[in-house]
Amino acid sequence: MANSINIDSKRLTDSLQTLGKIGQYKDVATGLTGVRRLALSAEDGEGRRHVVSLMKQAGLTVTIDRIGNVFARREGTNPTLAPMMMGSHIDSVPTAGMFDGCLGVMSALEVIRTLNDNNIETLRPVVMAFFTDEEGCRFGVDMLGSAVATGRIPLEQAYALRDRDGLWFKDELEKIGFQGEAPVLLKPPHAYLEVHIEQGPVLRAKNLDIGVVAGVQAISWQELTIQGKPAHAGTTPMELRADAGVAAARINLRMREMTEDAKYGTQFRATMGAIRPHPGLVNIIPGQVIATVDVRNPEDAFLKKAEADLIAFYDEVARREKVKITWRQTARTDSVRFNDTVQALVSKGATSRNLKSERIISGAGHDAQEMSHICRAGMVFVPGEFDGISHNPREFSTPEQCANGVNVALDVVLALANEA
Ligand code: GLV
Ligand code: MN
Ligand code: MN
Repeated sequence: MANSINIDSKRLTDSLQTLGKIGQYKDVATGLTGVRRLALSAEDGEGRRHVVSLMKQAGLTVTIDRIGNVFARREGTNPTLAPMMMGSHIDSVPTAGMFDGCLGVMSALEVIRTLNDNNIETLRPVVMAFFTDEEGCRFGVDMLGSAVATGRIPLEQAYALRDRDGLWFKDELEKIGFQGEAPVLLKPPHAYLEVHIEQGPVLRAKNLDIGVVAGVQAISWQELTIQGKPAHAGTTPMELRADAGVAAARINLRMREMTEDAKYGTQFRATMGAIRPHPGLVNIIPGQVIATVDVRNPEDAFLKKAEADLIAFYDEVARREKVKITWRQTARTDSVRFNDTVQALVSKGATSRNLKSERIISGAGHDAQEMSHICRAGMVFVPGEFDGISHNPREFSTPEQCANGVNVALDVVLALANEA
């Protein structure tokens, strides 16, 4: 590529590590130190204030919208043109590492710092963003901030969400001081680019440097409430039981069997990640179970079929186990295909830097998929070590893997921010 500008890999690593120190916790399962910055927690507030101060130090103009999405703008030579936007999220699952989301946000900062260092002006403004509550672990809806900013979810619906302790989203947003004034509906940027760790094993196993993300698979989340009858474990004859735990187990096993059934394609994924029995004691038949269902498929039709079949199966289990099963949809997104031009620019950037790349479909949800509904959007994936483990303190991409992705992003941003 004509320009031979590179980002500062050490500075990128330092900024990831510094952010990764906010919200550290000791993980009992691994003995490692991980990151816990649940959306709108005090730790999220501290992380946000830290990133905002870095944005200001880089000379950017910071805007916060009514759902707490934060945007920081570097002016273009033509300020009236729609900006080139980069971003991701800094909230985390409760058992996180320091890369998920943060790499995208720190990439955006690093690209801007590189433009600053090299006195490079761009025709269009460049905006870096971090979106509120991408993970959905606390309030139940993933990509919430970007979905509200792009109009898929109404602001009032987001404000009305509650966490497990009954705390309201809106109150928690106010509490950390991030309920901004800016209108929540985002003016479509010129294009949007997000750098992210792959969060899976594919790139590393194939010895690839860069994933050119072609799209994101469809994702459906449900919360099930299974109501049985709590009773004594020793004295209640088996035929008199209404065991909500057994009902949850049957559903979980059926989900596994469905992933092995070609009727749902070859890439159906299903997880019952939370199973909360009540009262949850050794000698009491669970009277109630709250359980979650996470089903995903790159093909929308396969996912729809799986959802319908699962719902029918709930009735079957309810009859068989003499329990009542109710469910509610907590999140649902169709599959998304990223913009061809953005994908081509990512490929081109990788090739010109002698990096090996391939197209890949994202198994995880991302803010970029919401942005794809209002502008041309795309993503750059970088490989992860240890089978690309993620949502875990072992999550790790090397400084070189990260820098490769951010250098490619720099090329893409330079191309798109200079488009008339
Ligand atoms: C987001 O991390 C997801 O669950 O895909
Ligand atoms: Mn993420
Ligand atoms: Mn995540």
